[in-house]
Amino acid sequence: MRVLVVHAHPVETSYNRSLYHAACEALAAGGHEVDALNLHEENFEAAMSREERINYHDVPGNITDSLRPYVERLLAAEGIVFVHPVWNFGYPAILKGYFDRVFIPGVSFEMSDGPDSGKLVPKLRKIRRVVFVATYGGTRFRTMIMGDPPRLLASRWAWGTFRGAPRPRYLALYDMNNRGPDELRAFQDKVRAEMARF
Ligand SMILES: Cc1cc2nc3c(=O)[nH]c(=O)nc-3n(C[C@H](O)[C@H](O)[C@H](O)COP(=O)(O)O)c2cc1C
Repeated sequence: MRVLVVHAHPVETSYNRSLYHAACEALAAGGHEVDALNLHEENFEAAMSREERINYHDVPGNITDSLRPYVERLLAAEGIVFVHPVWNFGYPAILKGYFDRVFIPGVSFEMSDGPDSGKLVPKLRKIRRVVFVATYGGTRFRTMIMGDPPRLLASRWAWGTFRGAPRPRYLALYDMNNRGPDELRAFQDKVRAEMARF
């Protein structure tokens, strides 16, 4: 399977980056074709520009030259993995920007015409498997009080968006700054094992 692995942590020595490498390595070891997308390394621009917003519904003109490679990589994927820390109970800006700028009309969804006009129809049917790998500084309980938005987005928004896939898997390590080396290693192993099931 061709698997796009999207990563959103700026620091190369971070634990989160080690999970990204573990995911890519385990997928490659399983014989998958890995497309490793490190958003920071590729200097992905997080903010949607004025022109992009104005042309948002202009299909296919909304795919600008700078977006085209990211769109092509997404459309070529048969599986997708997101490896990211949780910041302010959400995605780091660069990952939010990836969703804002690449998951656009004509790419991840289209608006239907006719009697159900304006209805949103998901398009990414080629993707058969979706996994999120998220790390949190807060405990599960503290995060739950805030509704744990990234977990909800994975189980609701992403499930609806990737209609060709079963419900996304959500691998989360909470309270990570209080984890000892054994627990950190165990979670890396869990990520590797999940990739082995692709
Ligand atoms: C800007 C920023 C915001 C953060 N916000 C949260 C948060 O809302 N909830 C949480 O559980 N952890 C939060 N954390 C902790 C990170 O989730 C945790 O440190 C991360 O998963 C591991 O990556 P690190 O190497 O940046 O620490 C935040 C960290 C940073 C730097």
